Amino acid sequence: MSKVERLNKSETARFKAVASLHCNEIPGGVLSILGEDFLAVLYRYISQAPHCGIWVSEDSGNLKGFITGCADDKKMFRWVLSHGLLPLIAVGIRSITKPGVIAGAISVLKVLLKTKHDEPTPHSQLLSLAVHPGCRKEGIGRSLVQALEIELVTWGVNECLVWTTQSNLRAITFYESNGFIRRFTVKHATEDMVGLLKSRVTSNF
Ligand SMILES: CC(C)(COP(=O)(O)OP(=O)(O)OC[C@H]1O[C@@H](n2cnc3c(N)ncnc32)[C@H](O)[C@@H]1OP(=O)(O)O)[C@@H](O)C(=O)NCCC(=O)NCCS
Repeated sequence: MSKVERLNKSETARFKAVASLHCNEIPGGVLSILGEDFLAVLYRYISQAPHCGIWVSEDSGNLKGFITGCADDKKMFRWVLSHGLLPLIAVGIRSITKPGVIAGAISVLKVLLKTKHDEPTPHSQLLSLAVHPGCRKEGIGRSLVQALEIELVTWGVNECLVWTTQSNLRAITFYESNGFIRRFTVKHATEDMVGLLKSRVTSNF
């Protein structure tokens, strides 16, 4: 029986397992290109930032899935950069020459720093989610989304945005079945991003 729990900053091995699952199951993103070591450090800082969290679903110590989310993405990135910039540069520098990293980073920045003319998007976000391929369609993804929603409510947040690529139909179907509605599109160098919004986040399941 798998259980969902929140990671705390001292659990180095579990951050590595989360980073590995992220790279394997969300391979197209720039964070995956930067590699597992970079992601493990990034996730350790995200877990410490105010009103941010990482939850895992595990069975007998085996990672089945994870989710990350925050009440305010801009505040989160500011906190992570002000507290973890040097460790992140140290671990990221090895990846900067890999193909696709610069273009990917620009695309991520485009999503984060949407121009003034764009429709404003909410800052409370589901940042990443993945379930091990052997454990899908068992309700693990749904239980992880619920864990994040419960925490968003305690943070005083009542809406949640998630970005995914237009071709990730499985994820789009999953988010729609969890109450998210397609609201935004951002043009990408490689592929457009779709923003899905849940406007009535709840802690009653
Ligand atoms: C998207 C993902 C997290 C879903 O996790 P999951 O544990 O399989 O989801 P659940 O079992 O909780 O599914 C809940 C509902 O989502 C929908 N759903 C899940 N998988 C689906 C699929 N393969 N096809 C269509 N609908 C699906 C169904 O409505 C399902 O309800 P049901 O089980 O009653 O039919 C998982 O497929 C995954 O890790 N994908 C790769 C990583 C990824 O794309 N992450 C999102 C990037 S932003």
